[in-house]
Amino acid sequence: MDRVFYITTPIYYVNARPHLGHAYTTIVADVASRYQRMQGRETFFLTGTDEHGDKIVEAARAEGMSPKSYVDKISAEFRRLWPELNISNDAFIRTTDAAHIAVVERVLQKIYDAGDIYFSEYEGLYCFGCERFYVPRELVDGKCPDHQKAPERIKESNYFFRMSRYQDWLIDHIRKYPDFIRPERYRNEVLAFLRDPLEDLCISRPKSRLQWGITLPFDSNYVTYVWFDALLNYVSALGYPEGPRFRKFWPYAQHVVAKDILKPHGIYWPIMLKAAGIPVYRHLNVHGYWNVDRTKMSKSIGNVVEPLDLKNIYGLDAFRFFLMRDMAFGLDSSFSEKALVERLNADLANDLGNLFSRVLAMLHRYFKGRVPESDPAMCDEFGKTLCAGARQTIAHYAQHMETMAFHSALAAVWEYIGEMNRYVDYMMPWELAKSPSKEGQLAAVLCSLLEGLRVVSGLIYPVMPATAATMQRHLGLDAGKPFYRLSTLESWGCLPAGTLLPKAVSLFPRIDIKQKKRTPPSARAQEETRKAEIDLEAFGRVDLRVATVTHAEAIPKAKKLLKLQVDCDGPRTIVAGIAKDYAPQNLVGRQVVIVANLKPVKLMGILSQGMLLAVGDDKGLALIHPDREVAAGASIR
Ligand code: MSP
Repeated sequence: MDRVFYITTPIYYVNARPHLGHAYTTIVADVASRYQRMQGRETFFLTGTDEHGDKIVEAARAEGMSPKSYVDKISAEFRRLWPELNISNDAFIRTTDAAHIAVVERVLQKIYDAGDIYFSEYEGLYCFGCERFYVPRELVDGKCPDHQKAPERIKESNYFFRMSRYQDWLIDHIRKYPDFIRPERYRNEVLAFLRDPLEDLCISRPKSRLQWGITLPFDSNYVTYVWFDALLNYVSALGYPEGPRFRKFWPYAQHVVAKDILKPHGIYWPIMLKAAGIPVYRHLNVHGYWNVDRTKMSKSIGNVVEPLDLKNIYGLDAFRFFLMRDMAFGLDSSFSEKALVERLNADLANDLGNLFSRVLAMLHRYFKGRVPESDPAMCDEFGKTLCAGARQTIAHYAQHMETMAFHSALAAVWEYIGEMNRYVDYMMPWELAKSPSKEGQLAAVLCSLLEGLRVVSGLIYPVMPATAATMQRHLGLDAGKPFYRLSTLESWGCLPAGTLLPKAVSLFPRIDIKQKKRTPPSARAQEETRKAEIDLEAFGRVDLRVATVTHAEAIPKAKKLLKLQVDCDGPRTIVAGIAKDYAPQNLVGRQVVIVANLKPVKLMGILSQGMLLAVGDDKGLALIHPDREVAAGASIR
């Protein structure tokens, strides 16, 4: 068995603040590395920020900041968030770090010297949003599928990476190692993509167009394409090529990404590694997308979920548990607070929380809180189902955790918790307690339950580290000792008799969603809002106009959205998240205020050309409108 484990998250773009999606991937990597530590493996866990490229320059400009001060600010937000989510990363890399830049230059030079980078003129379709060229077959109705915009035809001299040379090698590698890209659906997706000839990759951008990047070591008129720069973070953070960490951890590398960046990780990256003479990673673990109430999370709909809000309302461990339990790794999932509360009440408050407090309460009632001395024969007779169940659960759990099937690993643990709850009902310790002759049996039953809880406390540790520690403290285990080791968990009967255990605490209070008030935004969020001041020039770029609603209708399967036709400076369609507060028939004829120059986005398959302004409070949303009728299209000054 490998003794070493290296895991990475994508390095996140600093053009947006961290949200639920970023939190999910990072928690996945955290859970995986905590689990590997339980297995006694030496782990290294890397996350960080991706800070070069057009997108970043645009975002900095929008905030009226220089790229450098802007990336410093947002990168710091990511770095500050992770400890709040109990993320145990060992390093945080930034692509603006000098050591990273040196590695990018070194690898580029190496590949260039080997003849795999060439200079050529290229005319193609370029999407500025994606910062890449598209071939016509990748477009949908002639448009970039992500930005819903026709790419521009541009002609440029650039440097190209000869990916085509490695296509057959990559296909063979993926076939030879079936779990190189997992789950299987993503492996198949990459293989399907590789059925067509692979285009060489344009890896430079002329400085006349973009300066915020790493200068090519062999041509100072160009900067490096942001993906070529970013992917190398996985080796530069380890001190490639000579660093001891690189030697130790790289052979065991595993990446976690979502499906949106499968292609750069499943195709560009292994080929870059091969061309640079670096062994390829072990596994690419690809997960699906979190949507919100079945709609894509996006700033323009205003449905971006803030991880810290959820932590503040429901508690960190419950939040982490929900994310790991509700998303089948690899598939998309729809986030809703209702589902979170249901999961929390059923699995955490009821199944685990009740069992824990029930068992400890009985121990206090029948044995004054001390772990009883129990006769091994009795224990064997009365506890063998729980003991065998624990062994089996640990085996299933480990199998699923190794392949990142966290939802299945947790399902196995909760199956066992269910078994323990049934065991209590079947054994009825309160009946045994009535006859002194059955004290031996009662002791055996309670000891088995305590042992079962000990196993559970260990198994939940990667996902809910704080709850695991609370449980272990209440079970009299010294938190300083490695009670989380899977090997230790397996040895049944290790709680010392006579130990006085503290009284139970409620691990997870039940939540009544109706009474649960969302806490106001954190002080930090408020401060951030205040700090994000813009000047008149920046404000002037927002085109606010009055529009008249001419038609409104519900959108099937989108509970929150309405499709509106409005007359502004002409007819346009807007998809607005106001269905809970406004009936379509009450909107026709009303005047509203819209952001008229917002980049169009496709929502539920409908192109939305603008955004309505509304104010939200406890009672819901209220639309903003002029206080007398004005001409549709009138500009707001
Ligand atoms: N900078 C690149 C990655 C370079 S890695 C060498 C990038 N950054 S990103 O900020 O856009 O982050 C994308 C990643 O964030 C996804 O792959 C995923 O890990 C996470 N998520 C962002 N939104 C998500 C959801 N809605 N759902 C789940 N995860 C998502 O791409």
